[in-house]
Amino acid sequence: MTIEPSIETPEETQQLVQADMASHSRRDFLKLASTGLGALLAMGTTLAVPALAEAKWFGKKPSASPVNQLETASVFDFVPAPVQAMDFSGVFGKTQGFSAKQLEAHYGLYKGYVGKYKTITEAIKALTPEQLSGANATYHPYRELLVEQSFALNGVLLHEAYFEALGGGSNTLPSPALKQLLTHHFGSWEGFTAHLVAAGKCMRGWAILAVNLRDGGLHWYGLDSHNQFSPMLTIPILVVDVYEHAYLLDFSTNREAYLTALMKTIDWGVVEQRLALAMEQKPATLGNKR
Ligand SMILES: [Fe+2]
Repeated sequence: MTIEPSIETPEETQQLVQADMASHSRRDFLKLASTGLGALLAMGTTLAVPALAEAKWFGKKPSASPVNQLETASVFDFVPAPVQAMDFSGVFGKTQGFSAKQLEAHYGLYKGYVGKYKTITEAIKALTPEQLSGANATYHPYRELLVEQSFALNGVLLHEAYFEALGGGSNTLPSPALKQLLTHHFGSWEGFTAHLVAAGKCMRGWAILAVNLRDGGLHWYGLDSHNQFSPMLTIPILVVDVYEHAYLLDFSTNREAYLTALMKTIDWGVVEQRLALAMEQKPATLGNKR
């Protein structure tokens, strides 16, 4: 679609973006949900996580009360899908500016997180009530498992969100509507890219562009590790790994060179699909009291 040069209000910008996104072929939602990104979307809303995994209520406000929904749900609706590493070989083959050696080494780390998450999850399931009875906040095996579970799970989710949006091919530039939205939020396109590079240089683990379901806006967030400073109720649409393992083989310690190269191979089509899904989520539904 053609974007008019002058947009007066954020609402008009959003309407144009929605219309533009509707013209794109959307990736099957289940595929996106299966990346685990959907689960990351609603951290803190334990009811929504299994629902997202099954793509049952995603983007839809429950027509009945949650209690009624639960009464009609099958217990099998809440069985999480098996965790397994995703195949990004197709993406890596199109990731300009990054060597196969760099990407394969990084992918190996990701597979390690998948394995550890499985191990931790099984260990938690195996705990007996007797073993849980002595839990305390100074030291207890359950505490250690919960802490490392968040590290491993976010290690899986964040890497999947990162890898999936690489290798843009013909999508290495944002659509006019998406570019206009980002420009609107960050003052200019240069403002947006300056935030990307600065967030990437500031943080020790991750820089994340996300939709905040509380205020409906786009924000950059930063994590010093997978589970440190993780914002709740935000939907990541662009995830940037800034650990040195993500770029050391190709860019030595020059993180800015890495971020500059990364911007040239981002798949903005994926970012746009995520934004469309995020927009369907608004407003946040922490309950039905609004
Ligand atoms: Fe990484």
